[in-house]
Amino acid sequence: MDRIRIVGGRPLEGIIPISGAKNAALPLMIASLLTEEPLILENVPRLADVKQLERILENHGVDIAVHGRRSGTDAMDGQRMTFHASEIVDTTAPYELVSKMRASFWVVGPLLARMGEAKVSLPGGCAIGTRPVDLLIMALERLGATIEIDGGYVIARAKNGLKGGEIEFPKVTVGGTHTALMAASLASGETVIENAAREPEVVDVADCLIKMGAKITGHGTSRIVVQGVSRLNGARHAVLPDRIETGTYAMAVAMTGGDVLLEGARPELLQSALETLGQAGAEITVSNAGIRVVRNGAGIRPVEVTTAPFPGFPTDLQAQLMGLMTRAKGTSRITETIFENRFMHVQELARLGARIALDGQNATIEGVEKLKGAPVMATDLRASVSLVIAALAAEGETMVNRVYHLDRGFERLEDKLGRCGATVERISG
Ligand code: EPU
Repeated sequence: MDRIRIVGGRPLEGIIPISGAKNAALPLMIASLLTEEPLILENVPRLADVKQLERILENHGVDIAVHGRRSGTDAMDGQRMTFHASEIVDTTAPYELVSKMRASFWVVGPLLARMGEAKVSLPGGCAIGTRPVDLLIMALERLGATIEIDGGYVIARAKNGLKGGEIEFPKVTVGGTHTALMAASLASGETVIENAAREPEVVDVADCLIKMGAKITGHGTSRIVVQGVSRLNGARHAVLPDRIETGTYAMAVAMTGGDVLLEGARPELLQSALETLGQAGAEITVSNAGIRVVRNGAGIRPVEVTTAPFPGFPTDLQAQLMGLMTRAKGTSRITETIFENRFMHVQELARLGARIALDGQNATIEGVEKLKGAPVMATDLRASVSLVIAALAAEGETMVNRVYHLDRGFERLEDKLGRCGATVERISG
């Protein structure tokens, strides 16, 4: 199993290209199941989760091609991929495949909408909480599906096709909104989704569905209206930049000090996190090229933050912010409201010398003068990168074990940080 070795203490200087968003690429790939025509996606990040979803889609009969590099492109540029589901040969997504990645459960919506049936393994729990799928099931039922749970599988049927309906989510759910959108696009009649997720990735998926011929309005607000159509066509769509990767590297620069351009990043995707970084003492400037983050001399100021659905502070940046706050001059408070168990990084940060007290959903972080390198263990994707951020400012060597969590969501992390002067290397095996 690969490990990453980091020697801390050097400021980051240079350019970090921002990849396509994992959390948009995954549902966009799944949207290819909705049409028998090819869907071409550009700027797809090279990630373990993308590879895993390719396996799942291939099992349903999707032909997948990765286009080679073109002149003038960089090895860091995203991939262009074609997904062609001319025939769905299997409407079952088996446990062995779905259990590795929760988002793969989302194939249920398009399979059901196009084929009238889907049998998809329940994804099971994961390191950040129980993460049920009851709201996704509720949404499909509102569109007329009958749902049975048998042997750990959700079996969804709509023999005469889905019918538009009213879906009101009792809490904001990204996966629920993706599922409702994709299923409603091929349902007959009108669907209204209330309390829909407003996350930029939902908007990106809706934009792509519109290119495919779907009739959607209101995406980006909490009320989305879909007029179902009988078929969707192929399209070409570029995945939007990853706001979580952007925020992660911005926090890394705030941690080490230095001056980095996050190339291709879009500020409107992470306004709340950028404001928090400003309060913490980082200077943020925006240009056509991306977002520039600078921190010179001045120390890190403590902040108080509560995670919330978009446009609030994202739960997917909570661990990274905590990593940064371990070195703040004073006491910070972070409240996690989205997932009940997303503090797995706390005990690992403590191994580097961080002082963090937990009380339910609340973490209190007493900034320390100095962190010291140590062996640490990655527990989930965002937790692992918080350890990297802390390690970049720690004295001496940190070895991050179980790096596969990082590879799920961060493309070439060691290259991107290494190009900016950090001492980061991957140790294989
Ligand atoms: N929830 C339910 N029932 C459901 C669905 C969700 O109770 O049927 C709850 C969840 O347990 C959670 C809350 O609703 O407490 C929000 O969950 P949501 O459905 O929004 O999360 P998700 O769609 O499973 C996506 C991202 C996560 C991100 C969350 C919140 C992808 C592939 N995943 O998950 O990203 O944290 O939205 O923004 O888009 C990550 O990338 O590391 C990651 C975990």
